[in-house]
Amino acid sequence: MKFVRFIMKHAALASVPKHIEHFSKFSPSPLSMKQFLDFGSINACEKTSFVFLRQELPVRLSNIMKEINLLPDKLVTTPSVQIVQSWYIQSLLEILDFLDKNPDDFKVLGEFVDALVTIRNRHNDVVPTMAQGIIEYKEAFPQDSVTNQNIQYFLDRFYMSRISIRMLINQHTLIFDGTLNPVHPNTIGSIDPHCEVGDVVQDAFHSAKMLCDQYYLRSPDLLLQEMCSKKKKNLPISIVYVPSHLYHMLFELFKNAMRATIETHDSSNNLPPIQVMVSLGDEDMSIKVSDKGGGVPFRRMDNLFSYMYSTAPTPQIGESTRPPLAGFGYGLPISRLYAKYFQGDLQLYSMEGHGTDAVIYLKALSTDSIERLPVYNKTALKNYKVSQEADDWCIPSKEPLDLSVYKVPK
Ligand SMILES: Nc1ncnc2c1ncn2[C@@H]1O[C@H](COP(=O)(O)OP(=O)(O)O)[C@@H](O)[C@H]1O
Ligand SMILES: [Mg+2]
Repeated sequence: MKFVRFIMKHAALASVPKHIEHFSKFSPSPLSMKQFLDFGSINACEKTSFVFLRQELPVRLSNIMKEINLLPDKLVTTPSVQIVQSWYIQSLLEILDFLDKNPDDFKVLGEFVDALVTIRNRHNDVVPTMAQGIIEYKEAFPQDSVTNQNIQYFLDRFYMSRISIRMLINQHTLIFDGTLNPVHPNTIGSIDPHCEVGDVVQDAFHSAKMLCDQYYLRSPDLLLQEMCSKKKKNLPISIVYVPSHLYHMLFELFKNAMRATIETHDSSNNLPPIQVMVSLGDEDMSIKVSDKGGGVPFRRMDNLFSYMYSTAPTPQIGESTRPPLAGFGYGLPISRLYAKYFQGDLQLYSMEGHGTDAVIYLKALSTDSIERLPVYNKTALKNYKVSQEADDWCIPSKEPLDLSVYKVPK
């Protein structure tokens, strides 16, 4: 029996490249917030969602698996990236198992929910495992700027793909597991049609404050303000959104703002508060988090969104039972992906010597909130093939220029 299973597993594995080739030829289909809500409304149809997902999940998985293979060989072959790749292959095979099953069979639908839960759990540690692979690679091989650029390009797309796949899985499992969410009965899967932004700001601030108190034994206060354009004076401001995504972004921004505030005011008794402005217009819902934490030099602004960039010492995984306040350098880049996922953005404006404003831009209207997804195509391929070319701007010399050589002979 064991032998038969081994042979079958082997045959399934051998067919993987063919499946990836096939499904990566399709473009992922971005869903709008409205479509997500329809899947979960009264006329929600589990069968429709099942039929959509058994095609769409392999498409999204295969598109990004093609890109993993475009990374430098020495990175793909690190043990960590190999593990991540094996999770993707295993999950792809498990979904493909449902391709020839009958959507009218309740048992099949139940098995599909179970399979999705297993897949979600399997992929829980993708981010730290992938990060570990990158660290191993960077330690072992000398880096050039083109490779760094490629890795940044890849990770943005890879983590965005992961956010989107988890969103699809969460929606299906939460809506069709047959139970109501006891804490938030009005949410549709992970979406809150009336997500009160101020509440999420308070929650995220509170969590960051607790961490900050543990590390520094003090923390700055919050000053929260909300603004609405004249036409709609309906405060408090709410939007159709995934509260957990918004919470993630704000929590990261607050941790950063608190660390900067405390480290620049360590000799003073008073800490300047962190100011938050929530503003709703016709098109955008924006949240500005302002600190007086001394800011960042302009030259370093681009680095802030780089995976691996942190000015905090790297925390050792498992060293402490407390979650770290900073140090992995993933806070900003991943938060920006969450903002971009539904067509928003996250930007930092800083004045060195004063402080930093971080602004989250989200779409005010759910009709504008549409998934932003990477697609594997010729353009993507070209981006991995960029080679190191000479800069078309002069590099200033560090040596003082000897002007005497230009002297005109008398
Ligand atoms: N509000 C801020 N004020 C000053 N520096 C900041 C601020 N936010 C981020 N930074 C800088 O950006 C770096 C990267 O931030 P982040 O991606 O959250 O990673 P981490 O917090 O783990 O270092 C920080 O280490 C810090 O140097
Ligand atoms: Mg951080």
